[in-house]
Amino acid sequence: MNFHSRAIIHLNNLHHNYQKISSFVGRNTKIIPVIKADAYGHGITRIAKELSIYENIAYLGIAHIKEGVMLRKKGIKKPILAMSCVDSFDMETILKADITPVVHSLELLERIKDYAKTNGIKIDIHLKFDTGMARLGIREEEVESALSICRKNKGNINVIGLMSHFSDSESDLDWTKRQLERFKKVIKLFGDGGIEPEFTHIANTGAILSLKDSHLNCVRPGLGLYGYLPEEKFKNTIDLKPVLEIQSQLINIHMLRKGEGISYGRTFKAKRDMRVGVVAFGYADGLFRALSNRLKCIINDRMVSSIGTICMDMFMCDLTGIQANVSDDVIILGKSENNSITAYELAEQANTIPYEILTNIGKSIRVKRVYRSQ
Ligand SMILES: Cc1ncc(COP(=O)(O)O)c(C=O)c1O
Repeated sequence: MNFHSRAIIHLNNLHHNYQKISSFVGRNTKIIPVIKADAYGHGITRIAKELSIYENIAYLGIAHIKEGVMLRKKGIKKPILAMSCVDSFDMETILKADITPVVHSLELLERIKDYAKTNGIKIDIHLKFDTGMARLGIREEEVESALSICRKNKGNINVIGLMSHFSDSESDLDWTKRQLERFKKVIKLFGDGGIEPEFTHIANTGAILSLKDSHLNCVRPGLGLYGYLPEEKFKNTIDLKPVLEIQSQLINIHMLRKGEGISYGRTFKAKRDMRVGVVAFGYADGLFRALSNRLKCIINDRMVSSIGTICMDMFMCDLTGIQANVSDDVIILGKSENNSITAYELAEQANTIPYEILTNIGKSIRVKRVYRSQ
């Protein structure tokens, strides 16, 4: 079957980025590559398989248990850490799939401890602390209670990791340092209480690049792996390459006469006669409608402006003066010889962040995923 649109995943760039991040953090720091949300839109199974070759991986980082179960079904053997959506009702599934749960509240800790006791088993966990993100994590005033539960139940609860999460690592270094200090206090308290887990981790891509002290003995890069930095200011700190490229095709070319409107709501009116191209990619393929009349694409190495409202399955563009035929390729994200479009640019135009662009663009079944190693 002919797919009009392709998401091309450049695996050589994934490996390049992984190796760059690895050497940036150094040999003594383990890595938890964050591959949740379908590996930020790059395909969780393939990305997990590719990264599984690396010895310095502590875990593959996922959010939902379902993601981990699927990885196990696909034969992924690396340790898996479920970082957020853990529930004690899922314990059987978690244990069967050999997933390590992150315990994000005192209540969940109690429930998992009870489960372990009832079943006469010992469960490995990472404990998560809230140091300022105020989303998940044992809060400052609860740390002593958490420690006490872990100490009293060493036969049933094995704390192998302590973690937290930064809220502003890309933009507020002072606040990030305060969060780190709070986390270090927790680590010390646990150490003083006789619990010194193998892994301590808090750093995401922004913190990896901006605060070396936050690396501890393990880091959790997400966005960086896929070739993007959370802020342009990090540009000179590390050389990363975008992994994802999105291409579609011209499926129709026609004339628009001066004064005529185009697409839903006719938000664009031709000021002159125009040659219009129709591209087989729309908001159902993850192209934000907010990009209507702003989006640019690349056709035959020329930058082309989209015109009119982006539709569910298509958008239109101005081909006046451009050499182009039906079936020609259209680059929506990626580069040609002389031009490029990045997730930063799409994010800026759509008033969002590169994370949201990557996790949405090209995820429909109508977009063929193509993995390339060259
Ligand atoms: C708990 C956790 N750790 C690490 C990351 C990776 O962050 P980044 O993509 O900014 O590197 C995320 C991403 O949202 C996360 O939720």
